[in-house]
Amino acid sequence: MSQTAKPSPEDSQPENSPTQETRTQETLPGDFVDFLAENAGRFEEELKEWLRIASISSDSSAKDDVHRAAEWVKNKFEAAGLKTESIPTAGFPLIYAETPPPAAADGKLPPVALVYGHYDVQPPEPLDLWTSPPFEPDVRDGKIYARGATDDKGQVLTHVLAVCEWLSSGRTLPIQIKFLIEGEEEVGSANLEEHLPRLSDKLACDVVVVSDSSQYGPGRPAITCGLRGIATYELFIDGPSHDLHSGSFGGAVMNPAIALCQMMASMIRPDGTIAVEGFYDDVLPIPEIERDSWKQLGSDDEEFARSVGAKQLAGEAGYTTDERRWARPSFDINGLTSGHQGEGVKTVLPAKASAKFSHRLVPNQDPVKITQKLQEHFARHCPTGVTFELKPDHGAGAMLADANSPYTKAASAAVESAFGVAPVMIREGGSIPILARFQEVLDCDVLLLGWGQNDDAAHSPDEKFALEDFHRGIRASAGLWQQMGRS
Ligand code: BES
Ligand code: MN
Ligand code: MN
Repeated sequence: MSQTAKPSPEDSQPENSPTQETRTQETLPGDFVDFLAENAGRFEEELKEWLRIASISSDSSAKDDVHRAAEWVKNKFEAAGLKTESIPTAGFPLIYAETPPPAAADGKLPPVALVYGHYDVQPPEPLDLWTSPPFEPDVRDGKIYARGATDDKGQVLTHVLAVCEWLSSGRTLPIQIKFLIEGEEEVGSANLEEHLPRLSDKLACDVVVVSDSSQYGPGRPAITCGLRGIATYELFIDGPSHDLHSGSFGGAVMNPAIALCQMMASMIRPDGTIAVEGFYDDVLPIPEIERDSWKQLGSDDEEFARSVGAKQLAGEAGYTTDERRWARPSFDINGLTSGHQGEGVKTVLPAKASAKFSHRLVPNQDPVKITQKLQEHFARHCPTGVTFELKPDHGAGAMLADANSPYTKAASAAVESAFGVAPVMIREGGSIPILARFQEVLDCDVLLLGWGQNDDAAHSPDEKFALEDFHRGIRASAGLWQQMGRS
């Protein structure tokens, strides 16, 4: 369908020149802008309705709610007259909808866009750190607080509303827009990945549009031209057949918790580089043009450290904070389990220990190859007296988008018109596992337009989304489809 070549870092050359020329071009008819403003309160109520559904995909007791969240968005599409269907999977359904294709003008086919997003959310724990309950949306100081506010219901809804309200107001769209809203992004999208080849005709498009990321900062909208990939694992250490008295046996029997600490420590050097043999073999260097352009964004390490509540920043030497977060691989321990966690002292030599850990990957790193290297690394670093088992969970490659595509240019104009300022070109460090697969299977481009903020607390207590960003997102989405129809 698309003629877009797979983007390579060389043709992904975002420019963040401070002298960037600003064009103020209205991308929407004035009466529609007025209509959106008049209906802002209703859109907020609809968002609240969706946010009240606790669609936690990882929680087996929340199954009914996840299905209800799918139905909610399906009903929205149906009410606006889109051709809609719920595609069952072994897990939660894929909600698909499409607008009518426009008539071809001058034999030239306008592009087809596929909006992708997710209706599932992360678990809300720890509950006691929420100011208002996670599934009772509360507006404070112009921001809506709820699990899923920014990740991703609030952001998905901007596109759903822009398209549905445009059609409901009796207008026609200059391009065809398809939607695929899934319910398992937060657990790795394995079922969507499995269905994808079979769905490739239905999902055929020129560009996938995703709002599931962030702006660079307040008042600094961004187009995200790359995301990191991910590889997640659990490492199990097995020692004696049962817990032992550390007085009788300590010093004579290998302690699995110590073995785990040694093995985890063997992964990373004091200078922040990853010590797994061959880990960097396939890593592509960051193109100088991107490094230069990110340096012009003017990020401030001290301010950044303050904003995340860190005493000081850390990481690989020789790279700026944005480079380390966006385009260098990383290693994190996500959880450690072993021995006595309860009150007081228990002098025990535990029989088992385990850790959950993950790597963020950069372009050209393959999660399957990384697993192989980790297996070899742990075999070399496992102390005698214990055994280990490495269990891979999900893996996905990194994603690069074409910063110079006509879609990026259309988006830039639409974002500028809605936010009053042109977007900067960035990458981000999080992962949306299915995007690299979309590029491969659908041979399409990807356009990441994050309306959220870095401090929106996605996955954390008091997750929020600024209502101003919600409404600007709706306007930018509506403007994008008009702009794409012109290009
Ligand atoms: N919306 C995020 C991805 C994201 C985060 C993009 C930050 C840009 C900046 C997404 O919902 C997410 O949380 N993804 C997970 C994937 C994992 C569960 C396989 C992630 O990045 O940890
Ligand atoms: Mn998300
Ligand atoms: Mn998420």
